[in-house]
Amino acid sequence: MSFPEHRPRRLRRTPAVRRLARETHLVPSQLVLPMFVREGITEPSPIGSMPGIVQHSLDSLRRAVAEAAEERIGGVMLFGVPETRDAVGSGADDPHGILNVATEAVVAEVGDALVVQTDLCLDEFTDHGHCGVLRQAQEPAAQAVVDNDATLERYTAMGLAQARAGSAMLGLSGMMDGQVGAVREALDAEGFTDTLILAYSAKYAGAFYGPFREAVDSQLKGDRRSYQLDPGNGREGVREALLDVEEGADIVMVKPALPYLDVLADVRASVDVPVWAYQVSGEYAMVEAAAAHGWIDRRGAIMESLLGIRRAGADAILTYWALEAARWLRAEL
Ligand code: PBG
Repeated sequence: MSFPEHRPRRLRRTPAVRRLARETHLVPSQLVLPMFVREGITEPSPIGSMPGIVQHSLDSLRRAVAEAAEERIGGVMLFGVPETRDAVGSGADDPHGILNVATEAVVAEVGDALVVQTDLCLDEFTDHGHCGVLRQAQEPAAQAVVDNDATLERYTAMGLAQARAGSAMLGLSGMMDGQVGAVREALDAEGFTDTLILAYSAKYAGAFYGPFREAVDSQLKGDRRSYQLDPGNGREGVREALLDVEEGADIVMVKPALPYLDVLADVRASVDVPVWAYQVSGEYAMVEAAAAHGWIDRRGAIMESLLGIRRAGADAILTYWALEAARWLRAEL
């Protein structure tokens, strides 16, 4: 018998064999593009820490979503940046609030050519920047306690406003206990039984949301560690996902993506609903910054990270590179 007995390299010999042997595939329909729409502007406004990403005007958003539909990506996730904010985030459930107005405009433009999704969280709409209402409005925001159950009432109102505006899927990103059950019940009671719920189940408190805070002009002082997960806790992420499935989530998500691939794999093994991952603003900014210096192969790093997130168990990925990656994927076919 010749040595070595096993030759795994046979599967890597030619591009044709490698193509055939690849275990994990990425297609444009698995990509969702997060987008920002800002009230009161007429031209798109660049976001310094996210080169290539803008805060859209209503008009530019409509055009950009139409372009995303042409690329046949899976969907878009809309975030609103309001002109004015208050303690309870009134703009969130106001039918004339920027996110609801934008949702209506976008759905009128693209229908269901792609899945129009909306962020359901109060942080963009509150003047203290927290994801919920505070227990005592007079508390300094830095030591603020977010009132879980009072926030649920705001979320149900926000969810109904988004469903009425035509959102096909509500992205519950606030990490309040019971948010999925509360919003599901409110939707069903009003006849919105077809509106999907994407639960940001395992959302970790950490440093990777920095550029996003600029993107939405976040007012946050302090941090979100009393509601988002501790980065050291993997089992707790799985538990959150199981609870959300029990409460009626159609899809559960892990966020950020790359630092939490173990959690993603564990959640994938624990639930039977689709599992998504959010490649967040900080993950985007790291690659863009290194690439701008010529220190990393931009396209290679982007596609490798997306493939890795798929391999770890994500059925779909929210990524700011969705359009560019979709074009590359088509070109590779
Ligand atoms: C909360 C929300 C955040 C992100 C998505 N939804 C911010 C936060 O939790 O602080 C971050 C996304 C990103 O960093 O790309 N509405």
